Amino acid sequence: MGVRYIGSKARVADAILDLAGAPQGGRFVDAFCGTGSVAAVGASRGWPVTLNDTLPSAVAMSVGATVGQGNVSFPALNGYAATIRALNAVSANPGFLHAEYSPASGAAGKVERRYFTEENAARLDAMRAQIRSWSGAGLLTKVEEELLLADLLRAANRVANISGTYGCFLKNWSATALRPVVVQERVLPQRTTDLRAVVGDVTLLPTNSEDTVYFDPPYTKRQYSAYYHVLETIHAGDSPEVGGVTGLRPWRDKASDFSYKTRALDALTRLVLGTTARQVLLSYSNEGHVPREQLINALSEAGKVTVHEVKTIGRYRPNAQASANAAAVNEYVIEVLPIQFEQAKRRPSPAAARA
Ligand SMILES: C[S@@+](CC[C@H](N)C(=O)[O-])C[C@H]1O[C@@H](n2cnc3c(N)ncnc32)[C@H](O)[C@@H]1O
Repeated sequence: MGVRYIGSKARVADAILDLAGAPQGGRFVDAFCGTGSVAAVGASRGWPVTLNDTLPSAVAMSVGATVGQGNVSFPALNGYAATIRALNAVSANPGFLHAEYSPASGAAGKVERRYFTEENAARLDAMRAQIRSWSGAGLLTKVEEELLLADLLRAANRVANISGTYGCFLKNWSATALRPVVVQERVLPQRTTDLRAVVGDVTLLPTNSEDTVYFDPPYTKRQYSAYYHVLETIHAGDSPEVGGVTGLRPWRDKASDFSYKTRALDALTRLVLGTTARQVLLSYSNEGHVPREQLINALSEAGKVTVHEVKTIGRYRPNAQASANAAAVNEYVIEVLPIQFEQAKRRPSPAAARA
């Protein structure tokens, strides 16, 4: 089981890549990559992939979703399988996660937080420390380290006492939260992905005129940095000042413009107008806070706009009526072919101009 991520496009990733077509020399740039579900399909179809997100934990999850066996051979630790076995063999060692996100936090009159059992939190602390120690000793490449962190995030997620996000923990223990935490080796495809991974704001991400860039911005006021704060802390392996009932780490420096209703339209328009990519694919859901017509009008300044409805796959529908009702929540991809490429097509070639 992967992380249940708000706005995940796992169900429509194939349809999005169909719009991108076959790789033509450029890269597939997943500029708000989240869990990397869309980039993963791109990589499986042979695209060189660029991942970007403001959250380091999201970039790690995306690295995990896109690497192939050739990217991560773990030569210094006798291979991936042996590394996962070694990680699972570490003994519990209480650290920050135990102190803040298990009932141990209730000591000294603080809130008793129930994200993880004490035993699981102490094992997660120990496994995080082990990854840091391997990395410090030069035994992991950056990609191998990110894959292990992604595996650790998945393991944590399987035993987290939450109902989807880390916006709050459950009062009573769920059955899954009481199971011992185990890191699982994932089945990696037999390939070496051409991969670039960047942590940063989308506005700073360079693209070039060969690329297809996919934008999947937040469309509601829910801030990912707050909803997934525990994943961020596990990934960082740090000890921030946390507060409140949920033990939120400082997150406002990562607050996204796209999550503010008043700023989102302007931010999206500037983003698309500023891109140099050959093709822009922008996900849009009718549950979002930006009005579709306004968005399409604004984007028309950037180039030729086509709206595609993308079909979700694999979603259980009990009957025809349920299918009809479900149609009310639609996913669209707005395709923009930027104006400079349209103009380039119309402009006569230098030879023709001279004649
Ligand atoms: C809708 S989710 C992407 C979901 C992803 N397509 C998937 O299938 O998992 C939006 C992502 O954008 C990231 N984000 C928000 N504002 C950003 C910004 N200004 N620059 C880069 N990433 C940003 C969030 O951290 C979040 O991971």
